[in-house]
Amino acid sequence: SQTHTDTLRTPIVAVLGHVDHGKTSLLDKVRGSDVTGGEAGAITQHIGATAVPLDTVSQMAGALVNPDDFDLPGLLFIDTPGHHSFSTLRSRGGALADIAILVVDVNDGFQPQTKEAIDILKRTGTPFIVAANKIDTTPGWNPQEGEPIQKSYEAQSQRARSKLDEKLYEIIGEMSEMGFSSDFYWRVQNFQKNIGVVPVSALTSEGIPDLLGVLMGLSQRYMKDEMAIDVAGPGAGTVLEVKEERGFGATLDVVLYDGTIRKGDTIVVGGANEPIVTEVRALLQPRPNAEIRTEKRFNKVDEVAAAAGVKIAAPDLENAMAGAPVRVVRDRDIDDVIAEVQAEL
Ligand code: GTP
Ligand code: MG
Repeated sequence: SQTHTDTLRTPIVAVLGHVDHGKTSLLDKVRGSDVTGGEAGAITQHIGATAVPLDTVSQMAGALVNPDDFDLPGLLFIDTPGHHSFSTLRSRGGALADIAILVVDVNDGFQPQTKEAIDILKRTGTPFIVAANKIDTTPGWNPQEGEPIQKSYEAQSQRARSKLDEKLYEIIGEMSEMGFSSDFYWRVQNFQKNIGVVPVSALTSEGIPDLLGVLMGLSQRYMKDEMAIDVAGPGAGTVLEVKEERGFGATLDVVLYDGTIRKGDTIVVGGANEPIVTEVRALLQPRPNAEIRTEKRFNKVDEVAAAAGVKIAAPDLENAMAGAPVRVVRDRDIDDVIAEVQAEL
């Protein structure tokens, strides 16, 4: 396949973890939104997607992400539900990921869906880091809004620090029981051998600069070759949801993980009965930092490049299915593409 060293694909970062451990809250802090506030009982029930551009990442991360050091366009975050009944959605989110954040509440520690998430990451061979969240709930914590974790640590009493460390060592112990060697991220030299644990708070944003710094560093360092592949080829994606939109009928919310999709492209989509062959009528892209699940003002565009969340409007999508593959035909034999889609169903 072709490689384009000048254009890199946006890495897909899946956020996984037990219910209520703070996945959506962390993303809200990164993108400056309040998706959590609009959720019934703060329970996520769908997979979300949010494109966070490099300049937003570096604004949030301060000195820990210098945009001049990176040629990745940003990060595409995939939010997943932690409630036990949504295991299909967790697997789907995990399967899309180039890299993942496992969110663990420092008070609650490892819970059933934490372990389930680790099993998914093991199965898919996805590299990940651990966000040890809710550090602000440590007794005696002295919050340092938005600061890197080192600065935050320095501002704590000895007692608060050792209370937190105790919790973090419990997480490191649980990781080891699951077969992973892990450590405080600043002690990790080789992130391919050791998993970094990043203490964070989605309430005070402490440690979020570190989390973004580690993600960007890992993506750039270990995945640059993967990111350079096929960015201009025919698009491939996964349907997140099939939604009725006024003026468009049934539309697809899709995560495009490879290639490009253009207005007018013939696409093949997995359907309830048989693959659907149709033509893209409109491509609606969420604004930067907007969650596709809640976005109200999409931009109409002629082309979208991976990785991205995009709403596809086309005729005959009523029988399309969440989780189904979407393929752009472009200059390939349509029967081959139909067979490819069928093989994935
Ligand atoms: P599901 O999507 O349902 O699995 O939950 P989630 O992991 O997305 O958790 P969510 O972000 O909805 O947060 C759950 C609750 O924890 C909310 O009430 C948040 O306000 C709270 N919360 C999240 N992060 C923090 C944190 O760092 N500190 C404190 N004190 N509360 C937090
Ligand atoms: Mg959530």
